[in-house]
Amino acid sequence: MSDRISLTIDGRQIEAEPGQTILEAAEEAGVYIPRLCWMKGLSAFGSCRVCTVRVNGRPQSACTQPAAPGMVVENDTQELRELRRSLIDMLFIEGNHFCMFCEKSGDCELQALAYRLGITAPQYPFMFPQRELDATHPEIFVDRNRCILCGRCVRASQELDGKHVFGFVGRGAGKKVAVNAESGLGGTDAAGDDEAVAACPTGSLLKKRVGFAVPVGQRRFDHQPIGSEIEQAQSEE
Ligand code: FES
Repeated sequence: MSDRISLTIDGRQIEAEPGQTILEAAEEAGVYIPRLCWMKGLSAFGSCRVCTVRVNGRPQSACTQPAAPGMVVENDTQELRELRRSLIDMLFIEGNHFCMFCEKSGDCELQALAYRLGITAPQYPFMFPQRELDATHPEIFVDRNRCILCGRCVRASQELDGKHVFGFVGRGAGKKVAVNAESGLGGTDAAGDDEAVAACPTGSLLKKRVGFAVPVGQRRFDHQPIGSEIEQAQSEE
């Protein structure tokens, strides 16, 4: 007897293991659900809402909602694409994301999602916040202007690196990622090869001196939209 769960996503029947979230089940079936704060190998955080889907008609975050038998999930609809566009738009205007000058361009998940969702210019006015930089670490540079508060560095530091380098402080518009040393990142036990640095989806945490090791034009999202690898893996099976 199989324990597999059967559900539908955008009218297609897929299967899930008990305990899998909708996002994980969809990914295994070759269906890409846009996401930002979720990362494979980390606990789900459920904060960005970019993965919002409709489950039996109700909005839910696909990265935290477990798959259940008979669920009817809507993912790629006009309404949800517009919701995601608005969320991405807001992330762009509330930080300082100057893609053309950013070392992470072509490798940035925020930028890649904007392209995938067809955003050419934000619909809201820019806020141009003044945020702190931290260059105190010999190998890592922190630019909070590009931070989207996804918490991936916080979780990766704890769950993958076994450290507690990053954490959130403040609330509302004053919320930011802090490090566990008063003198800045250089006073922590962070290392350039920490998973926490690699987990950053934007150019907020960057390893120094390797920014252009892969030339612009040859980066992850330069040739195909984000999520294509998930869709292709299924079509090649
Ligand atoms: Fe699900 Fe961020 S990816 S809430």
